[in-house]
Amino acid sequence: MSLLANKIKIVEVSPRDGLQNEKQAIDLNTKLELIDRLVDAGLKNIEVTGFVSPKWVPQLADSAQLCQQLNQQQDVNYSALVPNVKGMQAAIAGNIKEVAVFTAASESFTKKNINCSIEESLQRFEPVIALAKQHDVKVRGYVSCVLGCPYEGEVKPEKVAQVAEKLFNLGCYEVSLGDTIGTGTPLKAQHMFNACLQVAAIDRLALHFHNTYGQALANIYACLQLGASIIDSSVAGLGGCPYAKGASGNVATEDVIYMLQGMNIETSINLNKLIETGNWISKSLNTLTSSQVGRANHK
Ligand code: HMG
Ligand code: MG
Repeated sequence: MSLLANKIKIVEVSPRDGLQNEKQAIDLNTKLELIDRLVDAGLKNIEVTGFVSPKWVPQLADSAQLCQQLNQQQDVNYSALVPNVKGMQAAIAGNIKEVAVFTAASESFTKKNINCSIEESLQRFEPVIALAKQHDVKVRGYVSCVLGCPYEGEVKPEKVAQVAEKLFNLGCYEVSLGDTIGTGTPLKAQHMFNACLQVAAIDRLALHFHNTYGQALANIYACLQLGASIIDSSVAGLGGCPYAKGASGNVATEDVIYMLQGMNIETSINLNKLIETGNWISKSLNTLTSSQVGRANHK
């Protein structure tokens, strides 16, 4: 009997995960146009920015302005990353209705990424989640390094499940499992996903796989076979984490949609418009790079 879901939720992360890792400055209008184009292509869940420290991630320093100018459509869920109460307060001020808190299954990565231990990060999320609930804001959780850590190497599936369970206990409605550095392979992905199924219902676990070694689509397919039904992806495969050496792009949304359509799985996304958006953002980023290189050369 096939466990393949007949409907998949796609969470588009390019405006946050994609753009946070770009070297060049990206203007606000490009970010806003990217989000509008993604909506036009039919994406219903879009992580638009992060309310993180601009000292840590300068690319997202314009998150408040972005939310102010965002033309929110009623049937689209616009979410943002928040690491602490300060970020949560800014997300509320920005009229964001869903946030994501983020930690990891590796101590070293957590320290490098958010400057605390896993346990401290979970304690930090308590008041964040309490504030979110007061304001009717949904909270998603991320566990990073689920299939390997850039500092510690192998990560045990049981550890991933343990951190995911803690995030659910804190009040997250969904937990996204991040292969931050894309070192996973299909059987390891299944093993990790199965471990998480011991602590959560299948419709509460998302796959967030980076594609460093070209394994993301294979890893997704392996977990789809177990019944996974939520996939994070990024148009044009943009993405990466500045605090995970070697982390490259997320799985491309275009590739995921092409695969799902070929399997007759419903996504309600217009693949042609999505491909146009991928081409447009790639061209925009390349233009920015060459104009900034040009400026540097003129100095
Ligand atoms: P810290 O330096 O330990 O904290 O950073 P702090 O409280 O001492 O704050 C330092 C400065 O940042 C202070 O400013 C704060 O006010 C300010 P100063 O007084 O020096 O002028 N600050 C903030 N500003 C704006 N918004 C905030 C905020 N918080 C503090 N929310 C902190 C701790 C968590 C803030 C920092 O480490 C941080 O922002 N880290 C974010 C790192 C990040 O965004 N990484 C990428 C996202 S994670 C990822 O990509 C993985 C994922 O995609 C899944 C996967 O692929 O696995 C999700
Ligand atoms: Mg990521």
